[in-house]
Amino acid sequence: MTAYPITEHEYDVIVVGAGGAGLRATLGMSAVGLRTACLTKVFPTRSHTVAAQGGIAAALGNLGADDWRFHMYDTVKGSDWLGDQDAIEYLCRNAIPAVIELEHYGVPFSRTEDGKIYQRPFGGHTANYGEAPVRRANAAADRTGHAILHSLYQQCLKHRSEFYVEYIVLDLLMDESGACQGVLAWCLDDGSLHRFRAHQTVLATGGYGRVYFSCTSAHTCTGDGNAMALRAGLPLQDMEFIQFHPTGIYGAGCLISEGVRGEGGYLTNSAGERFMERYAPSAKDLASRDVVSRAMTMEILEGRGVGEHQDHILLHIEHLPAETIHEKLPGISETAKIFAGVDVTRQPIPVLPTVHYNMGGIPTNYHAEVLRPTAKNPDAVVPGLMAIGEAACVSVHGANRLGCNSLVDLVVFGRAAAIRAAELIKPGAKHAPVTGGSEEAALARFDRMRQAKGERAVGAHRLKLQKQMQQSCAVFREDKLLSQGVTEIDRIAKGMNDLGISDRSLIWNSDLVEALELDNLVVQAQATVYSAHNRTESRGAHARDDYPNRDDIKWLKHSLAWVDSKGKVKLGDRPVHLQPMTDEVQSFPPKPRVY
Ligand code: FUM
Repeated sequence: MTAYPITEHEYDVIVVGAGGAGLRATLGMSAVGLRTACLTKVFPTRSHTVAAQGGIAAALGNLGADDWRFHMYDTVKGSDWLGDQDAIEYLCRNAIPAVIELEHYGVPFSRTEDGKIYQRPFGGHTANYGEAPVRRANAAADRTGHAILHSLYQQCLKHRSEFYVEYIVLDLLMDESGACQGVLAWCLDDGSLHRFRAHQTVLATGGYGRVYFSCTSAHTCTGDGNAMALRAGLPLQDMEFIQFHPTGIYGAGCLISEGVRGEGGYLTNSAGERFMERYAPSAKDLASRDVVSRAMTMEILEGRGVGEHQDHILLHIEHLPAETIHEKLPGISETAKIFAGVDVTRQPIPVLPTVHYNMGGIPTNYHAEVLRPTAKNPDAVVPGLMAIGEAACVSVHGANRLGCNSLVDLVVFGRAAAIRAAELIKPGAKHAPVTGGSEEAALARFDRMRQAKGERAVGAHRLKLQKQMQQSCAVFREDKLLSQGVTEIDRIAKGMNDLGISDRSLIWNSDLVEALELDNLVVQAQATVYSAHNRTESRGAHARDDYPNRDDIKWLKHSLAWVDSKGKVKLGDRPVHLQPMTDEVQSFPPKPRVY
């Protein structure tokens, strides 16, 4: 194997990823005097949080009475009761100060007539425990993520956080006791390798939407942290729950915000019918995302899709006043023009349910600490390792995430990680030597990929994986499709041994970056299809034709999946936390979920 010189760094904390969660954690840790480095594969303000549109959920009650308990109820119901209620309480009560904090950080929220933060309705957001729609999505026009990401980055600069930009983190450094000691990373700019030692390593690496052919996620969304956790022998949780956003642009996949329907937009089929009235008589177009995506898919499957191939649906906002479109939805007007060629003031937008969010990920508690569940202790903590944002499964989203709960998840749990790190770490404490063999394993994997001389090109093999996932594990699932999916994805995983890399340099080698990302995607695909095949019920975003009902007796539990270095998958489970964190709110027991 090639000998690689390694540059050594020591920090109190390292954060991997510079999206909303990574930046909120980084600034919080820097602010309390922890020496913090943030490692990111793209420049921070290019992270995928920049693409979030419609809003950030918090029960501010600026445009109608609201309460964090109502938000909690909606989130539990949205999760189809798979969310952990202690973590959901933590999220919803901390959402309110988190949004005010963002306002103070300089986020340019849209405003009401009297100068308060503007709030719009969103799917599944209700007051009084499901009684009536409420405005809870705090919005900066339809560019909320962009506004938040830039403000957080400015705050990091203010607190002098250190950034390592365009560093590809290869793997976690785990000692023989199972504690995390830091990471090994590759700098694209000069090709050097770096060992970062830290008392806490925080994975804020985002989702793995790019495992599918059509998704709203950026090309960078390859779930690198999830795959590192698997390689460290940790399980991933609830990987079968993939959210399809109802309104991705047909053919392009770009997101058209649910905020469009919040402002009065609606969907029609080929008969011009507002079909959501049949599927969700109360909430209609603002039912939760899994419900709307299934309804759209049913319309298409039953021959009421639009277009030459009757394979999509129309989203209308032509009827809205021009000033609403101009002030509240400027971004989607531009996106629709560029990617669908439509003028939204005159024409409907062609849309299709598109992969948008991973509810599953690295299991954590609500302090952001990563768990290594055992039969004896399902909540056992991994020393030195945290996960936040879409990489983590806290689990506040359960089987289906409510719109605008992702941005708030980022900042609430990014802050929680900083609070916990400040409790656990004495700034400047000495580091133990790196032991345990994981660095050698990481170097060997890197070198194997770099020297790969097989027949399969990275792009072609990735396309195969993405098409297979789209075919086997989409909006509706059933046994035959899923068992074929398991076989085919295993075959694709084996095919990684025959990968060929065209460029062996260490500097700006995009072929090698994509090979490493593909290696990360493949193990997550395995965890996803195996978990989906195993869960013989329908819950939230996991809709099985052959098991159409939710089964709380057998399946009110989180799925766990391990994938070992030979590609062998092992499945397990752990209990859902049905009790809230405090006695200031009741537990919400499972009941039928209707909108
Ligand atoms: O539709 C949207 O604007 C997306 C919001 C979200 O995923 O939370």
